[in-house]
Amino acid sequence: MEITYLRVSVTDKCNLKCFYCRPEGLEFFEKEKLLSFEEIAKFVRALTKYGLRKVRITGGEPLLRKDIHILVRMLKEIDGVEDVSLTTNGITLSKHAEILKKNGLDRVNVSIDSLKPELFYKMTKGNLEDVLEGLREAKRVGLEPVKVNAVVIRGMNEDEALDFVEFAREYGVEVRFIEMMPLGQGLIQWDLDMVKPLDMIKRRIEEKYGKMVPSESIGSGAAKVYELPSLGVKIGFITPISNPFCDGCSKLRLTAEGSVKLCLRTDEEIPIKDVLRYGSEEEIDEFIRQILIEKERSNMEIQKSNYAFSECRRVMTSIGG
Ligand code: GTP
Ligand code: 5AD
Repeated sequence: MEITYLRVSVTDKCNLKCFYCRPEGLEFFEKEKLLSFEEIAKFVRALTKYGLRKVRITGGEPLLRKDIHILVRMLKEIDGVEDVSLTTNGITLSKHAEILKKNGLDRVNVSIDSLKPELFYKMTKGNLEDVLEGLREAKRVGLEPVKVNAVVIRGMNEDEALDFVEFAREYGVEVRFIEMMPLGQGLIQWDLDMVKPLDMIKRRIEEKYGKMVPSESIGSGAAKVYELPSLGVKIGFITPISNPFCDGCSKLRLTAEGSVKLCLRTDEEIPIKDVLRYGSEEEIDEFIRQILIEKERSNMEIQKSNYAFSECRRVMTSIGG
């Protein structure tokens, strides 16, 4: 099988405390336990033989990892890697955007769950204006397309859909609405009642702005993307709950401390740090072939389970989406 997309978590640390993502009293990995940039690049290089084209850097908050632009450059220099992107909460993006761009970063996705500063603070304990400054800087230096992720939570930010559409137009960004997944056990217990089915959001947007036309956007395929011709903006919907998109998944995740996570919904992980650290090229290649066999099996099991809700106990801060 082919693996086309890899998400690499470079730290489990985060400078926000999103209530659905991060439990109280979370302990972080020791710095020495994290994969080095060389080890990450070794894995990426080895995976290009099996179809890898796109790499996304995540966290925690990836901009907290020292000299992250150096990793960007190392990944970008690997033959076969066409797209290097990064998912960030945007808090320090204004300081990093330019150097990231100079080192070859193609694009960024920024999480903004509310456009109301008070609600944003309540949900994340962060300052919305810092993130907006980061967005403007990302646009200025050309980290395009800039995408904004908004996890929609019933009774909290569900009334902001139309504001986000206007925001997409004003900032020239693609907005993606996301259904909240039962991951991570933050400060709350996930409940199906909290999930706002996104078809309702889509309908509300179409009532105001007219019919959406299916569109394309570079990416992992997690989002169904539409264009609103009346505004010339792209809006995406990520629907892991109401309409899962696991069929033929060709994505892997590499955790910060060096395990390959086969699937977001399960706890299946394969430790790979020792092989990357001490193995020969042939040994790494053989290990990857085993991982691909496991990935194929995991894909089949997820299908059989009828996409049962997540059994993943790892907290989202240490997966990075
Ligand atoms: P693009 O490369 O721009 O398509 O990024 P992306 O949407 O894959 O990544 P991002 O980090 O912006 O994630 C947005 C949301 O999509 C997060 O909530 C992720 O957890 C979710 N997501 C991404 N990939 C998958 C997947 O394979 N399965 C599920 N269930 N959710 C995913
Ligand atoms: N369900 C859906 N998306 C989530 N994210 C974090 N936790 C969840 C969850 N439980 C989102 C973040 C970020 C992206 C990487 O994942 O808001 O935009």
